Amino acid sequence: MNESAADVRVAFIEKFNEEPKLFYSPGRINLIGEHVDYNDGFVMPGAIDKGIFFAVTLNDSEKINCYSIDFDESISIPLSDVKKMGGWKNYVLGIVNEFQKLKLPLKGFNCAFGGNIPIGGGMSSSAALEGGISYSLNELCNFQLSRKELALLGQRAEHNFPGVMCGIMDQYANMMGKENKVLLLDCRNITHEDIPLHIEGYEIVLINTKVHHSLAGSEYNQRRKECEKGMAILRRELNIQSFRDIKDPAELLPFKDEMGDKVYKRCLFVVEEILRTQKAATLLKENNIIGFGESMFQKHKGLKEVYEVSCKELDFLVDAAKENKDVIGARLMGGGFGGCTINIVKHEGVESFLVKILSAYKKEFNINAENYKVKVVNGTHLI
Ligand code: GLA
Repeated sequence: MNESAADVRVAFIEKFNEEPKLFYSPGRINLIGEHVDYNDGFVMPGAIDKGIFFAVTLNDSEKINCYSIDFDESISIPLSDVKKMGGWKNYVLGIVNEFQKLKLPLKGFNCAFGGNIPIGGGMSSSAALEGGISYSLNELCNFQLSRKELALLGQRAEHNFPGVMCGIMDQYANMMGKENKVLLLDCRNITHEDIPLHIEGYEIVLINTKVHHSLAGSEYNQRRKECEKGMAILRRELNIQSFRDIKDPAELLPFKDEMGDKVYKRCLFVVEEILRTQKAATLLKENNIIGFGESMFQKHKGLKEVYEVSCKELDFLVDAAKENKDVIGARLMGGGFGGCTINIVKHEGVESFLVKILSAYKKEFNINAENYKVKVVNGTHLI
Protein backbone atom coordinates (compact mmCIF):
# COMPACT_ATOMS: atom_id res chain seq x y z
CA MET A 1 0.00 0.00 0.00
CA ASN A 2 2.38 2.66 -1.12
CA GLU A 3 1.55 3.76 -4.62
CA SER A 4 2.59 7.16 -5.93
CA ALA A 5 0.70 9.17 -8.53
CA ALA A 6 3.16 7.86 -11.13
CA ASP A 7 2.49 4.22 -10.13
CA VAL A 8 -1.26 4.76 -10.42
CA ARG A 9 -0.87 6.36 -13.85
CA VAL A 10 1.23 3.43 -15.08
CA ALA A 11 -1.25 0.87 -13.71
CA PHE A 12 -4.08 2.72 -15.44
CA ILE A 13 -2.28 2.86 -18.80
CA GLU A 14 -1.47 -0.87 -18.60
CA LYS A 15 -5.11 -1.66 -18.01
CA PHE A 16 -6.89 0.82 -20.23
CA ASN A 17 -4.25 1.83 -22.73
CA GLU A 18 -4.92 5.58 -22.67
CA GLU A 19 -3.69 8.67 -20.83
CA PRO A 20 -5.78 9.46 -17.71
CA LYS A 21 -6.41 12.58 -15.67
CA LEU A 22 -4.84 12.27 -12.21
CA PHE A 23 -6.40 13.33 -8.92
CA TYR A 24 -5.29 13.25 -5.29
CA SER A 25 -7.82 12.64 -2.53
CA PRO A 26 -6.49 13.01 1.04
CA GLY A 27 -7.22 11.25 4.31
CA ARG A 28 -7.75 13.42 7.36
CA ILE A 29 -6.60 14.06 10.87
CA ASN A 30 -8.88 15.48 13.50
CA LEU A 31 -7.28 17.65 16.16
CA ILE A 32 -10.33 17.91 18.39
CA GLY A 33 -14.02 17.04 18.57
CA GLU A 34 -14.69 13.33 18.22
CA HIS A 35 -18.17 11.83 17.75
CA VAL A 36 -19.77 15.24 17.82
CA ASP A 37 -20.10 15.84 14.10
CA TYR A 38 -23.35 13.86 14.04
CA ASN A 39 -24.43 15.70 17.18
CA ASP A 40 -24.36 19.27 15.85
CA GLY A 41 -20.99 19.95 17.47
CA PHE A 42 -17.68 21.44 16.35
CA VAL A 43 -14.71 19.48 15.03
CA MET A 44 -11.28 20.47 13.83
CA PRO A 45 -10.05 18.26 11.01
CA GLY A 46 -7.46 18.81 8.29
CA ALA A 47 -6.63 16.99 5.06
CA ILE A 48 -3.30 15.16 5.10
CA ASP A 49 -0.51 13.92 2.88
CA LYS A 50 -1.73 10.32 3.23
CA GLY A 51 -4.38 9.60 0.68
CA ILE A 52 -5.38 7.99 -2.59
CA PHE A 53 -4.36 8.80 -6.18
CA PHE A 54 -6.94 8.29 -8.89
CA ALA A 55 -6.41 7.93 -12.64
CA VAL A 56 -9.70 8.46 -14.46
CA THR A 57 -11.17 8.90 -17.96
CA LEU A 58 -14.67 8.82 -19.41
CA ASN A 59 -14.95 5.79 -21.66
CA ASP A 60 -17.73 6.48 -24.17
CA SER A 61 -19.68 3.48 -22.93
CA GLU A 62 -22.30 2.89 -20.28
CA LYS A 63 -19.87 0.96 -18.10
CA ILE A 64 -17.96 1.56 -14.88
CA ASN A 65 -14.54 -0.09 -15.06
CA CYS A 66 -12.68 0.40 -11.82
CA TYR A 67 -9.46 -1.17 -10.57
CA SER A 68 -8.14 -1.13 -7.01
CA ILE A 69 -4.37 -1.53 -7.18
CA ASP A 70 -4.05 -2.38 -3.48
CA PHE A 71 -6.61 -5.15 -3.57
CA ASP A 72 -5.75 -6.14 -7.14
CA GLU A 73 -9.47 -6.36 -7.82
CA SER A 74 -11.64 -4.88 -10.56
CA ILE A 75 -15.28 -4.21 -11.23
CA SER A 76 -16.89 -3.83 -14.61
CA ILE A 77 -20.53 -2.92 -14.20
CA PRO A 78 -23.14 -1.27 -16.44
CA LEU A 79 -24.33 2.08 -15.09
CA SER A 80 -27.84 0.64 -15.17
CA ASP A 81 -26.88 -2.14 -12.75
CA VAL A 82 -25.39 -0.25 -9.80
CA LYS A 83 -26.04 -2.08 -6.54
CA LYS A 84 -24.43 -2.69 -3.17
CA MET A 85 -21.29 -4.84 -3.18
CA GLY A 86 -18.74 -5.63 -0.50
CA GLY A 87 -15.57 -3.76 0.54
CA TRP A 88 -14.12 -0.91 -1.51
CA LYS A 89 -16.67 -1.46 -4.30
CA ASN A 90 -19.45 -0.19 -2.08
CA TYR A 91 -17.78 3.21 -1.77
CA VAL A 92 -17.30 3.63 -5.52
CA LEU A 93 -20.79 2.42 -6.38
CA GLY A 94 -22.32 4.35 -3.50
CA ILE A 95 -21.06 7.57 -5.10
CA VAL A 96 -22.34 6.57 -8.53
CA ASN A 97 -25.71 5.79 -6.97
CA GLU A 98 -25.89 9.27 -5.42
CA PHE A 99 -25.09 10.97 -8.74
CA GLN A 100 -27.80 8.88 -10.35
CA LYS A 101 -30.28 9.87 -7.69
CA LEU A 102 -29.62 13.51 -8.59
CA LYS A 103 -30.51 12.53 -12.19
CA LEU A 104 -27.20 13.88 -13.45
CA PRO A 105 -26.13 12.53 -16.84
CA LEU A 106 -23.34 10.31 -15.57
CA LYS A 107 -21.14 8.68 -18.23
CA GLY A 108 -19.24 5.40 -18.15
CA PHE A 109 -15.69 5.73 -16.81
CA ASN A 110 -12.41 3.93 -16.38
CA CYS A 111 -10.56 4.31 -13.11
CA ALA A 112 -7.51 2.91 -11.30
CA PHE A 113 -6.65 3.99 -7.78
CA GLY A 114 -4.12 3.34 -5.05
CA GLY A 115 -2.21 5.30 -2.46
CA ASN A 116 -0.56 5.38 0.90
CA ILE A 117 -3.38 5.63 3.41
CA PRO A 118 -3.81 2.62 5.69
CA ILE A 119 -7.28 1.09 5.49
CA GLY A 120 -9.02 0.99 8.87
CA GLY A 121 -6.34 3.26 10.33
CA GLY A 122 -8.82 5.93 11.43
CA MET A 123 -7.58 8.44 8.81
CA SER A 124 -10.75 8.00 6.79
CA SER A 125 -9.61 6.03 3.79
CA SER A 126 -13.33 5.67 3.04
CA ALA A 127 -13.93 9.41 2.65
CA ALA A 128 -10.76 9.59 0.53
CA LEU A 129 -12.18 6.93 -1.76
CA GLU A 130 -15.59 8.58 -1.95
CA GLY A 131 -14.07 12.03 -2.49
CA GLY A 132 -11.71 10.89 -5.26
CA ILE A 133 -14.52 9.27 -7.22
CA SER A 134 -17.05 12.06 -6.74
CA TYR A 135 -14.60 14.89 -7.44
CA SER A 136 -13.15 13.30 -10.57
CA LEU A 137 -16.58 12.46 -12.03
CA ASN A 138 -17.87 15.93 -11.17
CA GLU A 139 -14.89 17.37 -13.10
CA LEU A 140 -14.97 15.03 -16.08
CA CYS A 141 -18.76 15.15 -16.54
CA ASN A 142 -18.81 18.89 -15.78
CA PHE A 143 -21.63 18.62 -13.24
CA GLN A 144 -20.45 21.76 -11.42
CA LEU A 145 -21.41 20.58 -7.96
CA SER A 146 -19.64 22.60 -5.29
CA ARG A 147 -17.13 21.02 -2.90
CA LYS A 148 -19.67 21.25 -0.13
CA GLU A 149 -22.27 19.49 -2.24
CA LEU A 150 -19.74 16.78 -3.01
CA ALA A 151 -18.96 16.35 0.71
CA LEU A 152 -22.66 15.93 1.47
CA LEU A 153 -23.04 13.56 -1.45
CA GLY A 154 -20.16 11.45 -0.07
CA GLN A 155 -21.79 11.33 3.35
CA ARG A 156 -25.07 10.14 1.82
CA ALA A 157 -23.19 7.49 -0.15
CA GLU A 158 -21.63 6.19 3.07
CA HIS A 159 -25.03 6.06 4.77
CA ASN A 160 -26.76 4.35 1.88
CA PHE A 161 -24.19 1.83 0.63
CA PRO A 162 -21.68 0.74 3.34
CA GLY A 163 -24.36 1.71 5.88
CA VAL A 164 -22.19 3.63 8.36
CA MET A 165 -24.28 6.54 9.63
CA CYS A 166 -21.26 8.85 9.76
CA GLY A 167 -21.24 12.58 10.40
CA ILE A 168 -19.95 15.11 7.87
CA MET A 169 -16.41 15.60 9.23
CA ASP A 170 -14.45 13.21 7.03
CA GLN A 171 -16.02 14.05 3.69
CA TYR A 172 -15.90 17.77 4.48
CA ALA A 173 -12.20 17.72 5.39
CA ASN A 174 -11.46 15.69 2.30
CA MET A 175 -13.04 18.37 0.08
CA MET A 176 -12.34 21.59 1.96
CA GLY A 177 -8.88 20.97 3.46
CA LYS A 178 -6.26 23.73 3.05
CA GLU A 179 -2.51 23.48 3.28
CA ASN A 180 -1.22 24.27 6.79
CA LYS A 181 -4.72 25.06 8.05
CA VAL A 182 -7.26 23.11 10.01
CA LEU A 183 -10.99 23.63 9.63
CA LEU A 184 -13.05 24.66 12.61
CA LEU A 185 -16.17 23.00 11.28
CA ASP A 186 -19.56 23.87 12.66
CA CYS A 187 -21.49 20.67 12.03
CA ARG A 188 -24.87 22.25 12.70
CA ASN A 189 -24.61 24.90 9.99
CA ILE A 190 -22.04 23.03 7.91
CA THR A 191 -19.79 26.04 7.60
CA HIS A 192 -16.18 26.41 8.64
CA GLU A 193 -13.41 28.78 9.56
CA ASP A 194 -9.84 28.10 8.39
CA ILE A 195 -7.44 28.16 11.33
CA PRO A 196 -3.72 28.49 10.58
CA LEU A 197 -1.85 25.66 12.22
CA HIS A 198 0.94 27.38 14.13
CA ILE A 199 2.73 24.44 15.65
CA GLU A 200 6.27 25.49 14.89
CA GLY A 201 8.67 23.25 16.81
CA TYR A 202 6.13 20.41 17.03
CA GLU A 203 5.09 17.57 14.80
CA ILE A 204 1.83 15.74 14.39
CA VAL A 205 2.57 12.05 14.70
CA LEU A 206 -0.01 9.32 14.20
CA ILE A 207 0.56 5.90 15.68
CA ASN A 208 -1.45 3.10 14.15
CA THR A 209 -2.41 0.38 16.64
CA LYS A 210 -2.86 -1.91 13.63
CA VAL A 211 -5.99 -3.23 15.23
CA HIS A 212 -9.45 -2.57 13.90
CA HIS A 213 -12.05 -4.19 16.08
CA SER A 214 -14.76 -5.59 13.90
CA LEU A 215 -17.50 -4.05 16.04
CA ALA A 216 -16.43 -0.58 14.91
CA GLY A 217 -19.23 -0.07 12.33
CA SER A 218 -22.10 -1.43 14.41
CA GLU A 219 -20.91 0.24 17.63
CA TYR A 220 -20.69 3.52 15.74
CA ASN A 221 -24.30 3.30 14.59
CA GLN A 222 -25.28 2.23 18.09
CA ARG A 223 -23.68 5.36 19.62
CA ARG A 224 -25.53 7.48 17.14
CA LYS A 225 -28.86 5.88 18.07
CA GLU A 226 -28.15 6.34 21.79
CA CYS A 227 -27.49 10.04 21.23
CA GLU A 228 -30.69 10.41 19.23
CA LYS A 229 -32.65 8.75 22.01
CA GLY A 230 -31.18 11.11 24.60
CA MET A 231 -31.71 14.13 22.38
CA ALA A 232 -35.40 13.28 21.88
CA ILE A 233 -35.88 13.46 25.65
CA LEU A 234 -33.93 16.71 25.97
CA ARG A 235 -35.76 18.30 23.08
CA ARG A 236 -39.09 17.48 24.67
CA GLU A 237 -38.11 18.49 28.22
CA LEU A 238 -35.86 21.49 27.65
CA ASN A 239 -37.25 22.83 24.42
CA ILE A 240 -33.82 22.90 22.79
CA GLN A 241 -32.71 22.08 19.26
CA SER A 242 -29.42 20.30 19.85
CA PHE A 243 -26.74 19.34 22.38
CA ARG A 244 -24.99 22.59 21.66
CA ASP A 245 -27.76 24.49 23.41
CA ILE A 246 -26.80 22.91 26.74
CA LYS A 247 -24.16 25.03 28.40
CA ASP A 248 -23.76 23.06 31.62
CA PRO A 249 -23.53 19.23 31.81
CA ALA A 250 -25.50 19.41 35.11
CA GLU A 251 -28.61 20.23 33.05
CA LEU A 252 -28.68 16.58 32.03
CA LEU A 253 -28.95 15.19 35.55
CA PRO A 254 -32.73 15.45 36.01
CA PHE A 255 -33.18 13.12 33.01
CA LYS A 256 -30.71 10.48 34.08
CA ASP A 257 -33.34 7.97 35.19
CA GLU A 258 -35.48 8.31 32.13
CA MET A 259 -32.45 8.05 29.85
CA GLY A 260 -30.86 5.11 31.59
CA ASP A 261 -27.16 4.90 32.37
CA LYS A 262 -25.85 4.31 28.84
CA VAL A 263 -27.82 7.03 27.08
CA TYR A 264 -27.07 9.46 29.89
CA LYS A 265 -23.32 8.83 29.59
CA ARG A 266 -23.40 9.32 25.82
CA CYS A 267 -25.24 12.65 26.21
CA LEU A 268 -22.87 13.73 28.97
CA PHE A 269 -19.89 13.03 26.75
CA VAL A 270 -21.37 14.96 23.83
CA VAL A 271 -22.19 18.04 25.93
CA GLU A 272 -18.74 18.01 27.56
CA GLU A 273 -16.94 17.36 24.28
CA ILE A 274 -18.69 20.26 22.53
CA LEU A 275 -17.70 22.60 25.39
CA ARG A 276 -14.11 21.23 25.42
CA THR A 277 -13.83 21.64 21.68
CA GLN A 278 -14.88 25.27 21.77
CA LYS A 279 -12.34 25.98 24.53
CA ALA A 280 -9.58 24.10 22.73
CA ALA A 281 -10.30 26.00 19.51
CA THR A 282 -9.76 29.26 21.39
CA LEU A 283 -6.47 27.95 22.79
CA LEU A 284 -5.28 27.05 19.32
CA LYS A 285 -6.27 30.45 17.93
CA GLU A 286 -4.26 32.04 20.75
CA ASN A 287 -1.32 29.81 19.83
CA ASN A 288 -1.46 28.20 23.26
CA ILE A 289 -0.29 24.87 22.00
CA ILE A 290 0.55 23.52 25.47
CA GLY A 291 -2.97 24.19 26.76
CA PHE A 292 -4.37 22.73 23.58
CA GLY A 293 -2.30 19.57 24.03
CA GLU A 294 -3.50 19.12 27.60
CA SER A 295 -7.08 19.19 26.41
CA MET A 296 -6.31 16.27 24.09
CA PHE A 297 -5.54 14.05 27.07
CA GLN A 298 -8.87 15.04 28.70
CA LYS A 299 -10.66 14.23 25.50
CA HIS A 300 -9.18 10.78 25.42
CA LYS A 301 -10.40 10.19 28.95
CA GLY A 302 -13.94 11.13 27.89
CA LEU A 303 -13.81 8.92 24.82
CA LYS A 304 -12.56 6.04 26.91
CA GLU A 305 -14.66 6.30 30.05
CA VAL A 306 -17.84 8.08 29.07
CA TYR A 307 -18.39 7.41 25.39
CA GLU A 308 -16.62 4.01 25.58
CA VAL A 309 -15.13 3.92 22.10
CA SER A 310 -11.52 3.21 23.02
CA CYS A 311 -9.76 -0.15 23.35
CA LYS A 312 -6.78 -1.43 25.31
CA GLU A 313 -4.33 -0.85 22.47
CA LEU A 314 -5.31 2.83 22.09
CA ASP A 315 -5.26 3.36 25.86
CA PHE A 316 -1.81 1.86 26.09
CA LEU A 317 -0.47 4.25 23.44
CA VAL A 318 -2.07 7.31 25.05
CA ASP A 319 -0.78 6.35 28.53
CA ALA A 320 2.71 5.78 27.17
CA ALA A 321 2.60 9.12 25.35
CA LYS A 322 1.53 10.89 28.54
CA GLU A 323 4.67 9.67 30.28
CA ASN A 324 6.92 11.20 27.66
CA LYS A 325 7.88 14.83 28.39
CA ASP A 326 8.15 15.68 24.70
CA VAL A 327 4.54 14.75 23.98
CA ILE A 328 2.22 17.62 24.80
CA GLY A 329 -1.04 15.93 23.80
CA ALA A 330 -2.33 12.57 22.64
CA ARG A 331 -5.68 10.86 22.17
CA LEU A 332 -7.47 8.40 19.98
CA MET A 333 -8.49 9.82 16.63
CA GLY A 334 -11.60 9.07 14.58
CA GLY A 335 -14.29 6.54 15.35
CA GLY A 336 -12.25 4.50 17.86
CA PHE A 337 -12.09 0.74 18.54
CA GLY A 338 -8.63 0.71 16.95
CA GLY A 339 -6.99 2.84 14.31
CA CYS A 340 -4.62 5.62 15.29
CA THR A 341 -3.69 7.90 18.12
CA ILE A 342 -2.82 11.48 17.27
CA ASN A 343 0.15 12.93 19.15
CA ILE A 344 1.65 16.40 19.22
CA VAL A 345 5.33 15.95 19.85
CA LYS A 346 8.28 18.33 20.22
CA HIS A 347 10.29 18.14 17.04
CA GLU A 348 13.55 17.14 18.72
CA GLY A 349 11.86 14.45 20.80
CA VAL A 350 10.04 12.64 18.00
CA GLU A 351 12.60 9.95 17.24
CA SER A 352 13.28 8.91 20.84
CA PHE A 353 9.52 8.97 21.57
CA LEU A 354 8.91 6.63 18.66
CA VAL A 355 11.68 4.22 19.59
CA LYS A 356 10.35 3.92 23.14
CA ILE A 357 6.66 3.71 22.42
CA LEU A 358 6.91 1.33 19.49
CA SER A 359 9.06 -1.13 21.39
CA ALA A 360 6.82 -0.95 24.49
CA TYR A 361 3.77 -1.59 22.27
CA LYS A 362 5.47 -4.52 20.59
CA LYS A 363 6.34 -5.96 23.99
CA GLU A 364 2.78 -5.58 25.27
CA PHE A 365 0.78 -6.73 22.23
CA ASN A 366 3.35 -8.32 19.94
CA ILE A 367 2.27 -5.93 17.16
CA ASN A 368 4.54 -3.68 15.13
CA ALA A 369 2.65 -0.38 15.28
CA GLU A 370 3.22 1.99 12.37
CA ASN A 371 3.78 5.71 12.65
CA TYR A 372 3.20 8.58 10.27
CA LYS A 373 4.45 12.15 10.57
CA VAL A 374 1.73 13.96 8.71
CA LYS A 375 1.50 17.31 6.98
CA VAL A 376 -1.72 19.20 6.45
CA VAL A 377 -2.47 19.68 2.74
CA ASN A 378 -5.18 20.84 0.29
CA GLY A 379 -8.41 18.88 -0.20
CA THR A 380 -9.13 16.67 -3.21
CA HIS A 381 -7.71 18.13 -6.41
CA LEU A 382 -6.53 17.54 -9.94
CA ILE A 383 -2.79 16.90 -10.08
C1 GLA B 1 -15.73 8.52 11.83
C2 GLA B 1 -16.90 9.19 11.12
C3 GLA B 1 -16.95 10.69 11.39
C4 GLA B 1 -16.83 11.00 12.88
C5 GLA B 1 -15.69 10.21 13.52
C6 GLA B 1 -15.67 10.35 15.02
O1 GLA B 1 -14.52 8.96 11.27
O2 GLA B 1 -16.84 8.97 9.73
O3 GLA B 1 -18.13 11.24 10.84
O4 GLA B 1 -18.04 10.78 13.54
O5 GLA B 1 -15.75 8.81 13.22
O6 GLA B 1 -15.42 11.65 15.38
